[in-house]
Amino acid sequence: MSSQNTSIHGEWSSRLAFIFAATGSAVGLGNIWKFPYITGENGGGAFVIVYLICVFMICMPVMMAEIMLGRRGRHSPVNTMRALAQETGRSRGWQVLGWMGVLAGLLILSYYSVIAGWALAYIPRLASGLFTTVNTLPPEEVNQFVSLKFSDLITDPIQLLGWHSIFIIATILMVAGGVQKGLERAVQVMMPALFIVLLILVFYAMTTDKFMTGLHFMFDVNFKQLFYPHCETTTNCQFSGQGVLSAMGQAFFSLSLGMGSIMVYGAYLPRHASIAQTTAVVVLADTVVAILAGLVIFPIVFSHGLAPAQGPGLVFNTLPIAFGQMPAGSLFGALFFLLLTLAAATSAISLLEPATAWLVETGKFNRPWAAITCGLVSWLIGLATVFSFNIWREVTPLAMFAKFEGKTLFDLLDFLTANVMLPLGGFFIAIFVAWLMNNQKVAEELDAATQDRSYRFWRFLLRYVTPVGIGLVFLNVIGVIS
Ligand code: PHE
Repeated sequence: MSSQNTSIHGEWSSRLAFIFAATGSAVGLGNIWKFPYITGENGGGAFVIVYLICVFMICMPVMMAEIMLGRRGRHSPVNTMRALAQETGRSRGWQVLGWMGVLAGLLILSYYSVIAGWALAYIPRLASGLFTTVNTLPPEEVNQFVSLKFSDLITDPIQLLGWHSIFIIATILMVAGGVQKGLERAVQVMMPALFIVLLILVFYAMTTDKFMTGLHFMFDVNFKQLFYPHCETTTNCQFSGQGVLSAMGQAFFSLSLGMGSIMVYGAYLPRHASIAQTTAVVVLADTVVAILAGLVIFPIVFSHGLAPAQGPGLVFNTLPIAFGQMPAGSLFGALFFLLLTLAAATSAISLLEPATAWLVETGKFNRPWAAITCGLVSWLIGLATVFSFNIWREVTPLAMFAKFEGKTLFDLLDFLTANVMLPLGGFFIAIFVAWLMNNQKVAEELDAATQDRSYRFWRFLLRYVTPVGIGLVFLNVIGVIS
């Protein structure tokens, strides 16, 4: 196998197109919906710091490794890993890493699509001016009104199913279209627009009287809160590594790492494009969007006396209040949820792509049928998430373990993928690239020399920091070390 091969699936038209696509994959619900709510659940500042450490010390080196693997392998993650294992004289068993990625992609897409459906549902809700009602309500009823609207939506399985289906169909259509058409162009307009609307919202948040409280919540570091959660409410203060695991899982999730999305995008990367620079741009953009989202949400949370730890509904229970009160808020609000849906769509296609590319490579499917088949599987699994918010709200299959008490199917799927499968994928990618592949060839693929300082630093991070970091967090969480 030569690294000069092009992929049978096509190629990005330029390095910039790849940057947009990879940023499109990274920036999504993870930044705007998930980051604020798990930061809220884990007490703020300390969580953010651990998250940032994971992003820069653990995930950034993995992203470079993943793009590099993809570009060298030029196939779906399954066949890329098989080819590269063969090239390096290692066991074919390494393709399991590709399989795990394909599976993780379909599982994540299954719930991702349901949440993206919420964002879709909020476009007409805002456009119709529904939330301007908050101006006519006494302040103490505002929160109730907004949260009632949210629960109206999620407790109705038929509505959720409808939005979930629309979102999956749209994702399938985009993936069926292939690499260059549509996708590249959509991302180029959408990402800057999303950024601008977020900035407008940050300015709005600055005008609320609790902006500084929000800022302190996000940046005041108090490790006690992270390691000893619920200490104020109970007397039995127990150490827990769960917060650190969530931060690490979130870093992998937000950067789309550990499951082959970035690997398969790397497979479509033209030969002469700097992987290191590309990675830096994507990581920076992703991090900035997540932080901005937090800066918007928390001041609103505190100015309205809401709870930061309210879970997945956080964004939907806070932003409509802001839009309801702002001049031209219905317009901005509809635009915001439209952009959020588009951001989710550009991530969703990268979740479906590894499985689709693999099916195409089997030779038994053309691209449209491959996309339809994989999309259908995800749609079906998605029913578990749809029902987790209504008829199966009480279904908590792992309730016998204290850690999983009260966790619905959606919670468990989210935990399994983001906190287990993705970091585990990252762990094995690091081992494969930094310990098993030929150093010379890896350097070559990255356009570096093995004695370059920056190359050696990268390899050091990947050899030691990434696997040891992930390993320690895992051992801690399963209780081997505490
Ligand atoms: N990174 C995406 C987000 O933040 C989600 C995602 C995870 C996409 C894994 C692809 C792979 O929303």
